[in-house]
Amino acid sequence: MELIPGLAGVPAAKSKVSFVDGKKGILEYRGIKIEELVKNSNFLETSYLLIFGHLPTKKEYEKFVDDITHHRRLKFRIIDVMKNFPEKAHPMDVLQSTVSALGMFYPSKDILDEEYHYEAAVHLIAKIPTIAASWFRIRNGDEPVKPDDKLDFTTNFFYMMTEQIVEPEVARIFDKCLILHAEHTMNASTFAALVVASTLADPYTVMSSALGALSGPLHGGANEEVIKMLMEIGEPEKVRDYIENKLKNKERIMGFGHRVYKTYDPRAKILEQLLQELIKIKGETKLYKVAKEVEKVTLEHLAKKGIYPNVDFYSGIIYQMLGIPVDMFTSIFAMARISGWLAHWKEYIKENKLFRPSQVYEGEHNLPYIPLEKREKTG
Ligand code: SDX
Repeated sequence: MELIPGLAGVPAAKSKVSFVDGKKGILEYRGIKIEELVKNSNFLETSYLLIFGHLPTKKEYEKFVDDITHHRRLKFRIIDVMKNFPEKAHPMDVLQSTVSALGMFYPSKDILDEEYHYEAAVHLIAKIPTIAASWFRIRNGDEPVKPDDKLDFTTNFFYMMTEQIVEPEVARIFDKCLILHAEHTMNASTFAALVVASTLADPYTVMSSALGALSGPLHGGANEEVIKMLMEIGEPEKVRDYIENKLKNKERIMGFGHRVYKTYDPRAKILEQLLQELIKIKGETKLYKVAKEVEKVTLEHLAKKGIYPNVDFYSGIIYQMLGIPVDMFTSIFAMARISGWLAHWKEYIKENKLFRPSQVYEGEHNLPYIPLEKREKTG
C-alpha cells in the first residue's frame, strides 16, 4: 500500500453533511449553498440542518432555540475549575479542558440513543459560547456574566463578554460568520473527532479531541496568526518586502492556501463582503488596507500555484473590529464548528467502524537486547 502524506484526497468516510468543490469554489451544507444560508438562515437553524439533516419545521426550530437558550449556564463547579486555570492559559486550552470536564456532569447513557444525541448537541452548542465568554472575564479577574435568556444567541455572547448589547446589524454579521465556519467536510479537526468517535467515546471527549486539532496554526489557529502578521506588517507600504521575504524563506503566508480549494475559498469571498458591511458601520481600519495589499502581493506570487485566501484571511479582521481579543479567534471558530463536528459524529456512529489505519514500517527487525553496561553512547 502506498503512503499518502496527510491522507490528502483519501476518503475517510461516507457523508451527506457537506460538499466542497475545490476547483469551482463551491461549499454546500446538506445540499444548500452557503451563499443561500448566509442570506436566508441563521447559525442555530443552520446547525439544526447540519446535525439532523433537514431544515427544521417551525415547531422543531422553536424547540431547538428554546432548549439552547435555557442550557447556556455553566454549573458552578465548572466555573470553579476555570477559576483555577493560569490567567495566561490560551482560550483554546481552556475550552478543550472545560468541554472535557462538561462531560463529567453529563455521563453518556446509550451512545446511540437519539435523545442523548439531541441533549449533547444542545449542551455543547449552548455552553461553548458561555465557556469562551466566561474565560474572557475570569482571566481579567472579573466574575462571569450570566447568560440573558431574553437575548438571541449572538447578542447574548457579546453580552456575556461585555455586558453591552451590540447593534442588531453587528450581531447579524457575527451570526453569518458562525454559519460560514460551521462545517467543512473532512478537515483535520473533524477527522480527529471521528477517530475518537469510532471508539464509541462520549461526545464531550470526542469534541475535546476536535478542539485540540482545531487549535493548531495550520488549521483553526490560522486566523489568530493572520492578525498577528497584519499587525507585524503595520503599514500597506511595508507589505511587499514582508511577503516577498517570507516567500523567499519558504515560509507560509497565514490565511492563504487550502488542501482542497485551488481557487478562492467561497467563505473568504463572503467574509470580505461582511467586512465591507461592518466597515460601513464602524469605519475602515488600517488593518484592512494592509490585508488588501497582502492579498494583492501574495496572489501575484501564489495564484499560479492555486493558492488563494482561505476562510481565515478576513475573519480575524471582522472579529477584531467587534472587539474580540486576537487569542479568542479560534474559540469563535470552535463555537461554530461544534455543529459540523456534531453532525459528523452523529452520522458516523450510526454505521460505526473503528478507525485503525496501517503504516509503512521503515524500522529494523530482530535486533538483540543490549545490557545497560554494554551500551556504547549511541546517537
Ligand atoms: C483551515 O481542511 C479544511 O477544510 C480546513 C478549513 C476548515 O474549514 O476546516 O478550511 C480551515 O484550516 C483553513 C487553512 C488555514 N491554514 C492556514 O492558512 C495556514 C497556511 N496555509 C498552509 O499551511 C497550507 O496552505 C495548508 C496547510 C492549509 C494546505 O497546505 P497543503 O495543501 O498541505 O499544501 P502543501 O503544504 O503540500 O504545500 C504545497 C505547496 C508548498 O510549496 P512547494 O514545497 O510545493 O514549493 O504550496 C505551498 C507550500 O510551501 N504553500 C504555501 C502556502 N500554502 C501552501 N506557500 C506559502 N503560503 C501558504 N499559505
